[in-house]
Amino acid sequence: QPVPVVTIDGPSGVGKGTTSALLAARLGWHLLDSGAIYRSLALKVMNDDLDPANEAQLAEAAKALRLSFQADGQHARILLDGQQVNDQLRSEACGDMASQVAPIAAVRQALLQRQKAFQQPPGLVADGRDMGTVVFKSAPLKVFLTANAEERAKRRHKQLKEKGVDVKIRDLLRDIEARDHRDSTRKVAPLVPAMDAHVIDTSDLSIEEVLAQIMNLVGQHV
Ligand code: C5P
Repeated sequence: QPVPVVTIDGPSGVGKGTTSALLAARLGWHLLDSGAIYRSLALKVMNDDLDPANEAQLAEAAKALRLSFQADGQHARILLDGQQVNDQLRSEACGDMASQVAPIAAVRQALLQRQKAFQQPPGLVADGRDMGTVVFKSAPLKVFLTANAEERAKRRHKQLKEKGVDVKIRDLLRDIEARDHRDSTRKVAPLVPAMDAHVIDTSDLSIEEVLAQIMNLVGQHV
């Protein structure tokens, strides 16, 4: 029996991260935050002043990435070149750079095995853009979360405000729409629901309601 995987894909700001972490905790399964891997490469690009247009150099950097995840209660400590980088990875600059390096096929290929290695007993919740379409194609349960862009901008605004960061909703909305566009129109592994994905529109749902729906699907499909 293969180790079961639940894939949670969707655009930025849809609550995938929170939902996936809670789901993994509830099931007692491992968690793959694949965005953190792309963000780590992005941070490496920014720190080492690599050229985001040099595809061969980026693929090399992706292969050589010294990245590890250490369990730490609910969340993982993310170490890049031995340094904890959790806070740096969350910055808008890092997310933005991640979505610039993510379209490169050789980069995605170089990061594939690293992601597959997370499939360990008793199970895995995999959060990203192409978990159900590329990385874990035969997962028994694939979920695709959506929410309208205004709602996602509002949620992001609230999150940032709690952290003391003051940004305009209008600017967040513009960034979200730009990132959505880049992620869904790229040639390689674009952001689209897998054919067999269960699409949940979370615009009017609380995290608990979303979780309840997914737990229900887990009961049926896993
Ligand atoms: O999910 P998160 O916002 O951390 O992802 C940052 C960026 O990394 C996304 O906008 C996307 O371009 C890229 N990404 C990806 N494939 C994944 C996860 C993230 O291309 N599986």
